[in-house]
Amino acid sequence: MTTKTRLQLTLAIIKPDAVAQPHVIKYIKNLILSNNFLFVRSNMVRWRRSDAEQFYKEHEGRFFHNRLVTFMSSTHILAREDAISCWRKLMGPTKVFRTQYEDPDSIRGQFGLSDTRNCTHGSDSEESAAKEIHFFFPDFDIEKWYSEEELLFRQRKVTFDPKRDIHILDNTSPTRKEEPKITAS
Ligand code: RTP
Ligand code: MG
Repeated sequence: MTTKTRLQLTLAIIKPDAVAQPHVIKYIKNLILSNNFLFVRSNMVRWRRSDAEQFYKEHEGRFFHNRLVTFMSSTHILAREDAISCWRKLMGPTKVFRTQYEDPDSIRGQFGLSDTRNCTHGSDSEESAAKEIHFFFPDFDIEKWYSEEELLFRQRKVTFDPKRDIHILDNTSPTRKEEPKITAS
């Protein structure tokens, strides 16, 4: 499938309550793939407490902050047309106990354990996405990706590698060394 719309990037986190349940993480990854997202980067991280505290600084002092900042999670840069709103739609609203009634088929509606242990995170704007991508993948250069890879991803000239949970460009065979030219003497 090729579209003219530029792909958007978002940062998705599968939180520890979901990572702890193999069937849930499997379901979520399959859902991401079947909804036409592309995995640009993936990483499994054990957050250092200081990192988690910085990431959720806006919630410091709230009763659930402690639960939020001690975990292992699966982090992903996802690409898709309207990635940010699509991923948040799949996740469902924040509050699990309400979402179980109002959006029961969403990820949080199906698998959320509590309003805090709510399975997944998704960036809420392009600005947050850029910040969050830089936070988890400091070596990833968003501008470079747009100039060198976005079109190929948009044209789906990629193949999914299930071992690494990333889509790889189809043309990434190592560039061959130029053969020495044989000239007639
Ligand atoms: P997220 O940032 O994780 O994608 O979630 P969100 O935008 O839907 O919600 P946000 O307001 O940004 O809250 C961040 C995370 O804090 C935890 N939380 N617990 N117990 C509670 O009332 C409560 N409220 C928020 C959730 O883990 C939420 O995703
Ligand atoms: Mg949020």
